[in-house]
This record gives sequence, structure tokens and C-alpha cells, in this order.
Amino acid sequence: MSSSLTDLKENYGLLSKEQFMNLLEVSRTIHSTLALDDVLERIMTQTNAILSAEASSILLMDPLDKKLHFRTTTGAKSKELKKFTLDMGEGIAGWVAEHAESVLVKDADTDERFSRQISEMISFPTKSMICVPCKMEDRVIGVIEILNKKGQKCFDEKDLLLASLLSGFAAIAINNAKSHTQTRKENSLLKSEINKKYILIGESAEMKSVFNLIQKVSKTNSTVHITGPSGTGKELVARNIHYQSERVGGAFVPVACSILTGTLLESELFGHEKGAFTGADKLKLGKFESANGGTIFLDEIGTLNHETQIKLLRVLEERQIERVGGNQLIDIDIRVISATNEDLPKLVQEGKFREDLFYRLKVICIDLPALKDRKDDISLLAHRFLDQFSKDAGQTMTRIHQEALECLVAYSWPGNVRELRNTIERAVVLGEGDVLTLEHLSEEIRKNEIDEKPKSSLALDNADKKHIEAVLNQTGWNKSRAAKILNISRNRLDRKIKSFEMKAPDYL
Ligand SMILES: Nc1ncnc2c1ncn2[C@@H]1O[C@H](COP(=O)(O)OP(=O)(O)OP(=O)(O)O)[C@@H](O)[C@H]1O
Ligand SMILES: [Mg+2]
Repeated sequence: MSSSLTDLKENYGLLSKEQFMNLLEVSRTIHSTLALDDVLERIMTQTNAILSAEASSILLMDPLDKKLHFRTTTGAKSKELKKFTLDMGEGIAGWVAEHAESVLVKDADTDERFSRQISEMISFPTKSMICVPCKMEDRVIGVIEILNKKGQKCFDEKDLLLASLLSGFAAIAINNAKSHTQTRKENSLLKSEINKKYILIGESAEMKSVFNLIQKVSKTNSTVHITGPSGTGKELVARNIHYQSERVGGAFVPVACSILTGTLLESELFGHEKGAFTGADKLKLGKFESANGGTIFLDEIGTLNHETQIKLLRVLEERQIERVGGNQLIDIDIRVISATNEDLPKLVQEGKFREDLFYRLKVICIDLPALKDRKDDISLLAHRFLDQFSKDAGQTMTRIHQEALECLVAYSWPGNVRELRNTIERAVVLGEGDVLTLEHLSEEIRKNEIDEKPKSSLALDNADKKHIEAVLNQTGWNKSRAAKILNISRNRLDRKIKSFEMKAPDYL
């Protein structure tokens, strides 16, 4: 580009002030937006002004059909031109694309490469013309065509050089837009991979209201506090908030507050300067700095000691941190999400957790219910985990037998979703066949069904007993047929008959 400018100055004299200003405008335009059509349109409009041209177009090569397509057209017949395409070698533009050489035509009618067809079809007589290749790393990606110098004049060598310069600008704009589109594609692919990995499953009313909250919170920068028993998905919810928010380009940084204490935790959170304490042999960035532009997830926040609580409060208020051993405040732009399965209000009451910090953290609260309180989700979760683990292990187990499912639903799941997930993983890894059955479940889960279910409700048991009795009578006490109608196994029917102390009538 600069050699073209030197060429221009040395061989063809200075640019007019107007030409120079227009060129400057083009150079600004190429970085002003990534919307390709918009940039190209503006470049071509400036091209017409700089070269006093009646019309100009950019034709881009489609790698699929190997034809030149009119991408941007200006001038009186711009709309009509859009529907045409040119083969390589066809017309002057096709020749330029094929030979990767610029062409200055003073009178199109006398140039044998000129194809009159388009000109005649749109009733736009072409007189003089400049056609320059548009290149990306020596590869022709298209052609710029500039038609008819205004005022009955002809284009000259200086115009040709200027056109080459403008085509260079257009190539930069096209390159920028292409890499932007590519990055966006990769980004959305990455996002969907992440989403698949961290997908939150649930369709119970309780989970629906959690999803609703996540969606609302994701649009804000508010501090969020997540509570719920162990294994209910607190970290998963935190990740979902991050990935659905504008901060997705930044990092999600989890910190297990309970693992580290004292100086180690502080240096983990805030980083340290070189020599801050024995063993600090180089500068270390803390989690807050790593999460800059993203989200920090402070897990098990209830375990923070008093001094760190004070420091955290200051970070939340000032949005600034100071590295251990440092004397400089560093601005940080983060969202803070905290979580605990402890009773934080109780810790506040006992004076173990600062009240001011507690209120600063729980701007928005999300409470995750235990799995036993949203039994509607168990079947869905179990089937999704089964699909996932079967796929991962190359297994064919994709169904859950009704009896096994009843056991899963009846069990109390003290370890919540984590325990259910592990249970299904174990069944898939250790089991065989297409169906997950009672045999694939642990004694504890099975025991629960066999022993506890009959105790659960006398009214329900009576209804159960009556129904079974009716089906048995209907089938003349053919237990196999009755089990089929009841959709339970023959063994289970036997257990029911035994536990209800039922007997076949004497006449059978
Ligand atoms: N709703 C859900 N959908 C899918 N997977 C879930 C769901 N809830 C939890 N899980 C899975 O259960 C496991 C435990 O979840 P997570 O670590 O988020 O729980 P937690 O509440 O942070 O537990 P803890 O209190 O023990 O730290 C993870 O493997 C997670 O992917
Ligand atoms: Mg957790």
C-alpha cells in the first residue's frame, strides 16, 4: 500500500485535497464495522468520489461454483447488476480474475475481452473502465470494476494506481469480516459443547423456577448466592449463569474456600507479590485477577475465616483487590457467585460469619431443593444420565425397567443428583444388557423399595391390594398374566401377594 502511495507521488504528482480526504475516510471505514456489505458499500461509494467514476462494483469469487458474483454495486443500474454472474475468463472482469492483473481500458468497445451482453441488458453503456484484482495473500478473491470517468474523460494510470490501493482496502475489510465470522462460528461451537457438558436437567416446578431465575440473573451483573444440600447442582447452576451471561468470553473461576486457610487462601484469592512471604519466589495472580471479565465462584463460603471475610467484603464494595505483599489497588471487573450447604444465617447468629458480608453476597438467592423434594425429576435425570454414560462406555443400556425406576423414585437420595448420577454410572459400567434392572442397583436403594414402600401409606396399600386382587381374579390367578397386566415382574407380584397375605380362592 505504501509503495503504491510512493508510486503515486513520484510518478503522477500529489493527490487533490478531496481525494486525500476520501482515501482517509476509506482507511477509517475498513475498521469501523465488521458488517461486510456495509463496509464494501462505503468503500465503493468513496471509490466513485475519488476516481470521479459513474459506477463501480465488487465481484467476489464463490469457491463453490467458481463464478464471480456481484457483491457490491453502485451507480444508476446497481440493482439490476446483482443478478448477474461471470465465469472465470468471461469479460474484462473475468480476464482480470483469471490473470490476476489490473487492466485500464480507455475505450471498452475496442477491447476484444469486453463482453457487451450485461452492458446492453441493463442499458448502461460502458466507455472507459478500470478493473483490478482483489487479493488475499496472492490469491484472487474477487475483482473491482470501475466504470466511466465523469465529464467525458478517460481513466489514466494514476486512477489505476488509486484503484489498486482501494482494492487493497477492500481485501482487508473482507479478510476482517471473514475471520470475524469464523471466530463467531468457533465460539458458538465451543459454547454448545460447554452447554452440553453443563446442561441442567429438570422439569419439576421447583427446577422450572430455578431456570427462570438463572435466565433473569444472567442478564445482570448481580452477586448471587446459591444454597442447597450437597450434590443438588450448586456449581452447575453457577456455571449456567456464567455461560448464559455476557461474561461468557471471560473465565469461570471456582474457588473451594474450605480447602485452603490463612495466608494460602488469601494468596490464592488475591495473588501475591514476589517475596511477600517465605516461599513466594515469584509474582502470582490470584483467582480474582484470573476471573477478570468473567465470574468467580466462591464455593463453601461459610468456611471463610474472619480476616478473609473482611477482605472479601472490601472487594465486593470497591471492586478492587490488593495482592498479598503489594501496595497497589488493582481494579477488577467480576461477577461474584457464592455457594454453601451450611446454614449461613445460623453462622451469622453465632458470630462466625459477618452479617454485612452475608447481605452483600445474597443480593439474589437461588435455593436448590433436595432431590427427594422434586421426585418428578428423578426419571428424567436417570434416563439422561443413562443415555450419556451408555454412549460414553459404548454400551447399549438405554432403558430402565419399571421396577428399577420405582425404586429410584422411592429412594431418599441423601447425596442428591450426584448420588443418582453415580448410581446410574455404576449400573452402566458394571451391568450388561439393554435394560437397567433392580439387579443393577445397590442393596440400599432396593431395600428402600421393598421394605419401606408398603409402610408408606395404609390407604395406598389397600388400593394396591384391591387392584392386584381384582387383576388376579380376572386372570383366574394366572400370576404371569396378572404380572403383565400390572406391568410388574412375576417376582414382584409374588412379593406383593406374600406381603398382603393374599390367597387364591378355594374354587380355583
Ligand atoms: N439438575 C441437574 N442436571 C444435571 N446434572 C446435575 C444436576 N444437578 C446436579 N447435577 C450433577 O450432579 C453432580 C453434582 O453437582 P454440583 O457439583 O453442581 O453439586 P453441588 O451442589 O455443588 O454439590 P456440593 O455441595 O457437594 O459441592 C455434578 O456431576 C452435576 O453435573
Ligand atoms: Mg459444589
